[in-house]
Amino acid sequence: MKNINTIEDMKAVARRRVPKMFYDYVDSGSWTGSTYKANQDDFKSISLRQRVMVDIAKRNLNTKMIGHSVTIPVAIAPTGLTGMQRADGEILAAKAAESFGIPYTLSTMSICSIEDVAKNTSSPFWFQLYVMKDREFIGKLIDRAKAAGCSALVLTADLQIIGQRHNDIKNGLSIPPKPTLKTLINLSTKIRWCSEILRTKNKSFGNIKGHINDGSSLNDLSKWVASQFDPTLSWDDVKWIKERWQGPLIVKGIMEVDDARKAIDSGADAIIVSNHGGRQLDGALSSVRALPSIVDAVGEKVEIHMDGGIMSGQDVFKSLALGAKGVYIGRAHLYGLAAYGEKGVKKSLDIIREELDKTLALCGLNDIKKVDKKIIIKDW
Ligand code: GLV
Repeated sequence: MKNINTIEDMKAVARRRVPKMFYDYVDSGSWTGSTYKANQDDFKSISLRQRVMVDIAKRNLNTKMIGHSVTIPVAIAPTGLTGMQRADGEILAAKAAESFGIPYTLSTMSICSIEDVAKNTSSPFWFQLYVMKDREFIGKLIDRAKAAGCSALVLTADLQIIGQRHNDIKNGLSIPPKPTLKTLINLSTKIRWCSEILRTKNKSFGNIKGHINDGSSLNDLSKWVASQFDPTLSWDDVKWIKERWQGPLIVKGIMEVDDARKAIDSGADAIIVSNHGGRQLDGALSSVRALPSIVDAVGEKVEIHMDGGIMSGQDVFKSLALGAKGVYIGRAHLYGLAAYGEKGVKKSLDIIREELDKTLALCGLNDIKKVDKKIIIKDW
């Protein structure tokens, strides 16, 4: 992995290795992509205070996210179709997270199933839940996550309907890819990706296959999934979900103080300030800008996490300074995975840790728990 020093370097390799429709699926926001872009750009408008002549020889990055020890306050975000970035992607990324000492969050829309990931890891991972119309199925999915030993449930609140991402339409995104001439030409340039996918049994939505009628094609499965996101989802649902789950519940997709309060009243143990990586409501505020008001309003009551646009250790540092107790990385881990598999995810994490550590030091701090808003300057 020579000359890979940043997540951007990793992204360039990922772009060469992954079929276009799956690369674009990751690197897209909805509609104009303005929130998608703002998530990253708004970090640039926060400056750091350089502090000097402090003994920074010994530094600590260990902390906790909802009671779980983490080597850095970063978790892997749930991302759909991870096993299409690289064969067995969820297993590889979960193993990388485990050896690094941070939580892995498995998406409902994963390619490898809950059970597959559990079989290949020994520390508990977190499970992200999409609530679908078929509530019986969702109840069973919660039970499966419990049986697999998952130690937190991350309930996504902001995807009752799917935001339109133009690239996915243009590329005819589907699982598996439809064999159009354009797609076949593109696949012919991704030999390693194809041969690895052909070798694995994990080629479809692992948590869902087997649920709809046996004998249905993968195409039917994709259609079932697309028709199943539930626009009626409401705060009342959180109560039964919490009851069925009986463990720590994190609600993801909160951008407003009012919604943060409702999440807490409904039983959330933590919330994730998130606009779904700019993939849902285009025009929404960036996550980093939404964070401070939510921390101010409810940060004493529950742990506030955030995701969206985190591509470096400095972005992690700035989020902590604004009051997040932990952050999630989606694309930053996917680029590593797509480029170099499990080692690539570890490398992405190393890049982030290294930068976080040096930033902490150059800000004159030696403990990640001491990062607060006094160390940043922002004009908003
Ligand atoms: C699903 O979570 C997506 O953003 O595509």
